[in-house]
Amino acid sequence: MALTCNQYVWKKQIYFIKWQAISKCKSRRKIGNRHIIIAVDGPAASGKSTTARRVAQQLGYTYIDTGAMYRAVTFKALQDGVLDRLRHSPELVGGLLDALTISFDGDRVLLDGRDVSLEIRDNRVSREVSFISSLKPVRDRLREMQQELGHERGVVMDGRDIGTVVFPDAELKIFLVADPAERAKRRYAELSAKASSSSELPDIKQLEEEIIRRDREDAEREHAPLKKHPDAVEIDTSRLTIDRQVEMVYTLAKERERG
Ligand code: CDP
Repeated sequence: MALTCNQYVWKKQIYFIKWQAISKCKSRRKIGNRHIIIAVDGPAASGKSTTARRVAQQLGYTYIDTGAMYRAVTFKALQDGVLDRLRHSPELVGGLLDALTISFDGDRVLLDGRDVSLEIRDNRVSREVSFISSLKPVRDRLREMQQELGHERGVVMDGRDIGTVVFPDAELKIFLVADPAERAKRRYAELSAKASSSSELPDIKQLEEEIIRRDREDAEREHAPLKKHPDAVEIDTSRLTIDRQVEMVYTLAKERERG
């Protein structure tokens, strides 16, 4: 089937990211191990990315932050000033998707070749990302990229729909949860570490309300809502240290690697 120019660029982009991810992962693989897919899902600020990143490091796997991909598309919509237009005419999002490229360079997220790792964590992006990620064309495009990235296995991928939609056959599915107040505290600490003055920081109560609102929007959307897969192992991290939650996921991963 002939590809349009935009489809061609998109395919090339997928193969480039896949090549980067696979070459990194292969160089660390130990011969004789069965490499699995680990899906880490859960609500906002439940510790998914820290846990997933550290488990991937310990296993020599590739870590893929799918939230960063949705955040990058949202950042692009804000940057181009098209967010309000998309609310009225969501079908226009195809044009935005065709005009952007997302790639990873280690932990850095590149949008159209520029490092946007810090900007995509901005509260402005956090407030709008649930809307952008509810749009079907966005989900279809990013799901295709994520499936390509995990095709060779040996990946830890975190998000909202990895165990339910992107990789329902993942050998290990984790669902992390935590009290909203605890999650707001963690997100506040994360933002404080990055802020240059306290005036840039949101009120902690407001942060908690935003997290609850985002969870509700993610769970109630029509396409690929935030949901626990029946086979997923649920871990409540409210009273766990990060070391303990990493150890729990790592132990489960080693068991599943043995088959
Ligand atoms: O870091 P945090 O838990 O706050 O969120 P994130 O993982 O960066 O994801 C940001 C947003 O992207 C979520 O609130 C979802 O709306 C969306 N997302 C999604 O819809 N599906 C995914 N697989 C990952 C993220």
